[in-house]
Amino acid sequence: MVLIYQIGLCILLSLILLSLLVNLAAFPFFFYAMFMGAFYAPTPMKKVKRMVGLLKLKKNARVLDLGSGDGRIVIEFAKMGYHADGIEINPFLVWRSRVFNWWSFRNDRSAQRRTRFFCRNFWQADFSDYDLVVVYGITRIMPRLEKKLRAELKPSAKIISHGFKFPHLKVGKEDGDLRVYSVD
Ligand SMILES: C[S@@+](CC[C@H](N)C(=O)[O-])C[C@H]1O[C@@H](n2cnc3c(N)ncnc32)[C@H](O)[C@@H]1O
Repeated sequence: MVLIYQIGLCILLSLILLSLLVNLAAFPFFFYAMFMGAFYAPTPMKKVKRMVGLLKLKKNARVLDLGSGDGRIVIEFAKMGYHADGIEINPFLVWRSRVFNWWSFRNDRSAQRRTRFFCRNFWQADFSDYDLVVVYGITRIMPRLEKKLRAELKPSAKIISHGFKFPHLKVGKEDGDLRVYSVD
């Protein structure tokens, strides 16, 4: 009995140690992301649900979440039947998204195939394929991001920004701090 208790305690301590090590290893990436764009702050799920209902896109529309965090926005758009990609600079969050995605769509392989998570810097990505780009950035990056979106997106494409405004793009629909922009 004592042996079982000791083994259990060892397993528990190992798991705590492992989770501490993983968090310690992940820590520098959170700072790196702050420097490269924005820090990690997930959009609350209630707001994600409102976001996916903001626009009616065409059937095979492609959606991109810039800085996709734990993948929640990508997964919700995929649930609506769209192709959804996430670009995220923090590899720990990318892997978390992939696991979360696999779990969310464990009974729906076709939805699983509609999502992709790239571990990349979004400043080096090409947005030209997308019909909708979602971003939850910070004020500092909005002017530079506006230029990149204007240069790369097709005229019919839309942008949803959570919280932060673009300096020159025209706002269409608004729902609280969710704003829909177009590039034309
Ligand atoms: C405010 S969070 C938003 C997360 C998610 N989109 C959401 O709304 O739940 C911003 C995310 O962007 C990522 N990020 C910051 N700079 C980036 C860059 N240059 N390339 C890719 N991802 C970046 C951060 O790691 C963080 O996860």
